[in-house]
Amino acid sequence: MASTMIALASASLPASLSLRNNCKLKMKRGSFDHNALLKEKRNSFIKTKSFGRLTMVVAVNVSRFEGITMAPPDPILGVSEAFKADTNEMKLNLGVGAYRTEELQPYVLNVVKKAENLMLERGENKEYLPIEGLAAFNIVTAELLFGAANSVIQQQRVATVQGLSGTGSLRLAAALIERYFPGAKVIMSSPTWGNHKNILNDAGVPWSEYRYYDPKTVGLDFDGMISDIKAAPEGSFVLLHGCAHNPTGIDPTPEQWEKIADVIQEKNHIPFFDVAYQGFASGSLDADASSVRSFVARGMELLVAQSYSKNLGLYAERIGAINVVCSSADAAERVKSQLKRLARPMYSNPPIHGARIVANVVGNPALFSEWKAEMELMAGRIKNVRQKLYDSLSAKDKSGKDWSFILKQIGMFSFTGLNKAQSDNMTNKWHVYMTKDGRVSLAGLSSAKCEYLADAIIDSYHNVS
Ligand SMILES: Cc1ncc(COP(=O)(O)O)c(C=O)c1O
Repeated sequence: MASTMIALASASLPASLSLRNNCKLKMKRGSFDHNALLKEKRNSFIKTKSFGRLTMVVAVNVSRFEGITMAPPDPILGVSEAFKADTNEMKLNLGVGAYRTEELQPYVLNVVKKAENLMLERGENKEYLPIEGLAAFNIVTAELLFGAANSVIQQQRVATVQGLSGTGSLRLAAALIERYFPGAKVIMSSPTWGNHKNILNDAGVPWSEYRYYDPKTVGLDFDGMISDIKAAPEGSFVLLHGCAHNPTGIDPTPEQWEKIADVIQEKNHIPFFDVAYQGFASGSLDADASSVRSFVARGMELLVAQSYSKNLGLYAERIGAINVVCSSADAAERVKSQLKRLARPMYSNPPIHGARIVANVVGNPALFSEWKAEMELMAGRIKNVRQKLYDSLSAKDKSGKDWSFILKQIGMFSFTGLNKAQSDNMTNKWHVYMTKDGRVSLAGLSSAKCEYLADAIIDSYHNVS
């Protein structure tokens, strides 16, 4: 009887509630099985439905993940998604910090192709790497950063562990801080690369910000920075961008770096460098490492996360490293053992392909000098469009506004000073995709589009408040 009624009822039900669609119907009267319902209740969402004179209890299977809400799109990577969906032919993607050629195409460096050919010829295997990564990579990456002749290298005072690019290396550093400096705070620039906060939040490390950007000058708020670093609790980690500050493109001068180091030493803080653009900012590997090296020359212990995403164009290979400079070789050995211990349950061991590319390029004198030339070319193209953008803005904007801050910035980004509403206008009216903080990636700009971008910036700056 019950089954007939269920069949009758289900015949008149919407498809979403039909038996075929995995919904279970139970009669409220008649042969109602409480135990079965209770069992289902654990995995199901129970609804009461009325169909004419019949009242039924409908047990609808729902996901155990029902309570998980939709995460917001990533503010940087989400920009690329919106760009792809735009069909306007003038559209420009200045959101993600990835190098493009003058034709606005992704670029694979020639030295990378050569290194990969060498690796193929050698028929190298794909065995697991040790937890700390490829030994040849770890040696060359630390030498590239500190200089091969640096006493910290000679005295084996650096704990270097291959990481999953810059992000993964920062994450390992954050895990080390969380475990061995419980309660210690990381202080970071305001603004900073958006992922810094995510990384520290996920590692459970407390953080706060120090002043960095001055909207009045679109330059560095050096006094604010110094007094906030001074005011941080003694022994804090001070997160610093080694070169080409992201998102502002504003770096301290060498003299300012010295003063920053003075305050950090006075307060017994620990410098924590993020070096994602070595060689890519100025075109010189040594110049871009000078901030880190000047701190090391003072005998300071410090952390440095490195990335090869930009300078070798190895974005998707996820290759980088975490380096911890210690005051003794013995301490470095112990720190390295703990970094390995932290890495093991996270990802076991790192990928080999990118590590081999770096080891082959940096470790081979011919490829190394070819790399330096290619890097100069990339950095040079960005400097050219930066100059051309400034020239176009100065020529077109008759208001007398001084746009020279653009020339003072360095690296792949320019902070335009545009606010959120103005940045929205750039996208909605001009099809220029950028982050809402007013940052544009000049690596995604061609000379041909500089004038168009200048028109968009002038319109957004003067006509939107
Ligand atoms: C300041 C900064 N740090 C770290 C990274 C990490 O990049 P990746 O994880 O690709 O090496 C980036 C990338 O944009 C960056 O701008």
